[in-house]
Order: sequence, then structure tokens, then C-alpha cells
Amino acid sequence: MNFLVLNGVNLNLTGKRERDVYGGQTLEEIEGELAAFCESNGHAAHFFQSNSEGELCTRIQQAEGVYDGIVLNAGAFTHYSYALRDAIAAIAVPVVEVHMSNVHAREEFRKKSVLTEVCKGEILGFGKNSYKLALESFWL
Ligand code: DQA
Repeated sequence: MNFLVLNGVNLNLTGKRERDVYGGQTLEEIEGELAAFCESNGHAAHFFQSNSEGELCTRIQQAEGVYDGIVLNAGAFTHYSYALRDAIAAIAVPVVEVHMSNVHAREEFRKKSVLTEVCKGEILGFGKNSYKLALESFWL
């Protein structure tokens, strides 16, 4: 299977910001692990990160007919982006929402996701392994 791992706003700072919450590995290092994880299971993963909501919507739109699944950590866009929600709803490709932290154990505003309803499922709270579990959910 062919997967797209999409990371949104501020995820490029992973490994540098709030290490106690998001860990000390950079996004590039995590992506390297995810690529190897997919390969070792006979699958392929492609990666894209952007701080721009519109660019993320464009990538989601372009995923139709190309990817078998999308793993999406939208960062703070999760909590208010109706544009991302509509983009996910517009495509047939299943999207699994991911968060590294347990958003339910943090600030009140993080408890609400406007994306979950249009996603296949949601995995959160397992650090970088949230991405691995989300990918694995497609082939288990
Ligand atoms: C996050 C949680 C969001 O609330 C936050 O804005 C992020 C990262 C996570 O992976 O835990 O940027 O999506």
C-alpha cells in the first residue's frame, strides 16, 4: 500500500519545541523511522509537512487515486480548521487522525477536534508511535 503522512503547523519544530510533550527526535528522524517501518512491512510512505492550511488542503485533494491512506497530524489546525475537514470529507481516501500527545489530558481547547468525524479513526497519546499505529491500522 501507498501512504501519505501529512504533518501540519509547527510539526516542523518537533525535537526542538516542548520536548517533554513531543520528544527529542526531529520530524525528519521520525519520518525516516516511519519510512523504514512501512518498507519492512511491504508498503511505501511519502511525507509532507506545511505550516500552511491551504497547502495541506491541496495535498489532501491531490491524494485521491494516488494513496491508499493518509495519516494526518494537523497540529493546532485540528481544533478549528473547517477547510481541512471539508478537504478530508471531499476525498474517498481514508484518513487517520494522529496526535503525539494525549490531547485530552492537556488544555481545554485541545479536547475538540473538528476533523475526527470525517476521519476513519484517531490515534493519540503514544508519541511517535501514534504514527506507526495509525499506519499499521491500514494493513492489520
Ligand atoms: C498535536 C496536538 C495539538 O494540540 C498541537 O497543536 C500540536 C501537536 C500532537 O501531535 O499532539 O501541534 O497535534
